[in-house]
Amino acid sequence: MSSDPKVVLVTGCAKGGIGYEYCKAFAEQNCLVFASNIPQRMCDLIELQSDKIKTLELDVTSDGSVSNAINHVISRYGKIDILINNAGIGSTGPLAELPLHMIRNAFEINALGQLRMVQQVVPHMVARRGGSIVNMGSVVGKAPTPWAGSYCASKAYVHAISHSLRLELRPFNINVVLVHPGAIRSTFGSNAVERLRDYDWKIYRDFKDSIVERARASQSGKSTDAAVFARHVVSEVLRPNPPKTITYGHMTGLFNFLSCSPLWVRDLFFSRRFKLNRKVV
Ligand SMILES: NC(=O)c1ccc[n+]([C@@H]2O[C@H](COP(=O)([O-])OP(=O)(O)OC[C@H]3O[C@@H](n4cnc5c(N)ncnc54)[C@H](OP(=O)(O)O)[C@@H]3O)[C@@H](O)[C@H]2O)c1
Repeated sequence: MSSDPKVVLVTGCAKGGIGYEYCKAFAEQNCLVFASNIPQRMCDLIELQSDKIKTLELDVTSDGSVSNAINHVISRYGKIDILINNAGIGSTGPLAELPLHMIRNAFEINALGQLRMVQQVVPHMVARRGGSIVNMGSVVGKAPTPWAGSYCASKAYVHAISHSLRLELRPFNINVVLVHPGAIRSTFGSNAVERLRDYDWKIYRDFKDSIVERARASQSGKSTDAAVFARHVVSEVLRPNPPKTITYGHMTGLFNFLSCSPLWVRDLFFSRRFKLNRKVV
């Protein structure tokens, strides 16, 4: 490893988030890491810079930004061994009222953003006949909750493309690893609550508090520490034969159970949890 360190590119490296911790965990394993984020967040990354971690701007919604970032890495090191498709945003709100432009934005980042990265990184991996792509899904992609249907759908999309990509990229010796995080402590909840600030729900006025609670749901005192989560995923991804999926973190047991339970069990649980077990009169 020391003579030819693995080159890793991570998207969406917010300070206090999972991507930031991925960068530290890969660097601990002697990888050369490119930590990236949107231009507005680059100041967050200053403390991360070291001889093993370089930073660069990368907006997963922009073809130009993605190709500039990838060309930069290739021009310096000639390869990308591991792509971590981590960038993502929450999308909270009742599906019957959440504006379509907000849903479109979440899909652009969470779903198409990952595929945009894949389409631009894969040619370089194919040329070297190897690499690993790690896509961040979510346990809620398997058991969607109320008040976050568009987020859950964007993660279900990630699950579906990951399963197809895994087979399509096998002939080129490229691994695809789908990660199902549970509830992981990060800036995700506060970002999601911030996005809700401008909404004045009409049909769902009476459920406002429950909707905000859903935005924060992954950020309880029991949530898994992002550094612990990242170290676990990194150790799995660096194995000679990485697993096809990694499920880790607080509440993964509950969501695994709900995802294979009869729908009445799931509905009972979520309607109680998110205060949907009463009629509006
Ligand atoms: N935390 C959890 O419990 C949990 C559970 C399941 C799955 N996940 C997934 O894990 C990943 C990391 O989440 P996290 O908890 O670390 O959240 P986070 O702290 O909010 O980090 C996500 C980062 O992605 C950035 N981002 C937003 N739009 C982007 C774009 N267009 N291009 C590049 N980066 C962009 C965000 O910037 P802004 O700060 O400006 O939005 C933020 O810095 C996400 O895919 C998330 O869906 C998290």
